[in-house]
Amino acid sequence: MCKLQLSLAIIKPHAVKNPVALSYIRNVIKNKFVVVKTKRVTLDQETAGNFYIEHEEKFFFNRLVTFMSSGYIDLHVLGHRNAIQLWRTMLGPTKVFKAQFEDPYSLRGMFGLSDTRNVAHGSDSIASAEREIKFFFPDFSFYEWHTNTEQLYR
Ligand code: PPS
Repeated sequence: MCKLQLSLAIIKPHAVKNPVALSYIRNVIKNKFVVVKTKRVTLDQETAGNFYIEHEEKFFFNRLVTFMSSGYIDLHVLGHRNAIQLWRTMLGPTKVFKAQFEDPYSLRGMFGLSDTRNVAHGSDSIASAEREIKFFFPDFSFYEWHTNTEQLYR
């Protein structure tokens, strides 16, 4: 039996505004993942702050929150056997200078502009994927999803 893992991808405002980056990212997502849920939203500063609450004490917190509430973001719940790791591998390192040197064909290597404008977010664990998906899709039922897909992908 194959159980699909879920991850939350957030395409950040500068990438949503860049048609070349956005269509490339969408194609990559379509080819590699089951897209379980998707929506385009804008965040106010309070909501962005709550989402990134674990970074509240970091020097970049305000910069990150201001940027993430500066325009549309695309949210995708991605399904794949290894969704969390696969999406993060496709993104490349968080720090863009590192991505450009170490993994230039990763999404951040190609389209990243800075540590804030680093193209997209990806959940970093099963627990954070659950929290993040619930944060943006409060009606999503993990129980239903896993029950249904166990039958589909058996
Ligand atoms: S840390 O410090 O290791 O916990 O940070 P990291 O996991 O690498 O990154 C977490 C998110 O913070 C953003 N980030 C920054 N924003 C602004 N300025 C700087 N210097 C900076 N460094 C990291 C980074 O884009 C990550 O956002 P998400 O949305 O999680 O990718």
